[in-house]
Amino acid sequence: MVKIAVFVGSLREKSLNKYLAQALEERAPEGVEFVYANIDVPLFNEDVEANYPKEAKDLKDLVESSDGVLFVTPEYNRSVPGVLKNAIDWASRPYGTNSFKGKPMGVVGASLNVAGTAVGQAHLRSIASFLEMKQLGQPEIYLSATDTTFDTDGKLVDERWAKNLDAYMERFTNWVESEK
Ligand code: FNR
Repeated sequence: MVKIAVFVGSLREKSLNKYLAQALEERAPEGVEFVYANIDVPLFNEDVEANYPKEAKDLKDLVESSDGVLFVTPEYNRSVPGVLKNAIDWASRPYGTNSFKGKPMGVVGASLNVAGTAVGQAHLRSIASFLEMKQLGQPEIYLSATDTTFDTDGKLVDERWAKNLDAYMERFTNWVESEK
């Protein structure tokens, strides 16, 4: 069994990145489980670290019990959405108990913009590097969505992207398993 903690960097109901995560989950081989992190947690405050909020503790527990972490995120103002960075900050603390340390990670993203998420993903890789995560370098997914990429229920209907996601999941899950 391979357990993947999935961080979707958008809280939006009709999030393209949520749809992308679901399209990847559909392609997960047997024995691979996606568990979605709840990143709708309080704003990080070092004053309350002694009394960790339950939602933040849940994030740490999820990451620690997972074999790998997959970030599926939009880019906001050429960086990582604040809501995602906040969740990462919580799971990296208290000092000395960084839950991400040594975990294999992948990052993919969807945007309406042609160049979308490339810079945001690079920022996330910089954070992951500081957190001492192992990173999958290739393949990369910068999904530039159009009106015909997902249907009205959020299901991926674009054949070309379907093939790209098939290839991504095969590589990502094999790699996470090999790092166990
Ligand atoms: C954006 N968007 C955006 N897109 C992009 O490609 N590069 C960027 O830097 C930004 N910046 C940005 C900032 C803020 C505050 C918002 C709300 C949006 C557009 C973004 O890609 C688009 O809204 C996506 O649909 C957001 O992802 P979800 O919510 O659909 O997953």
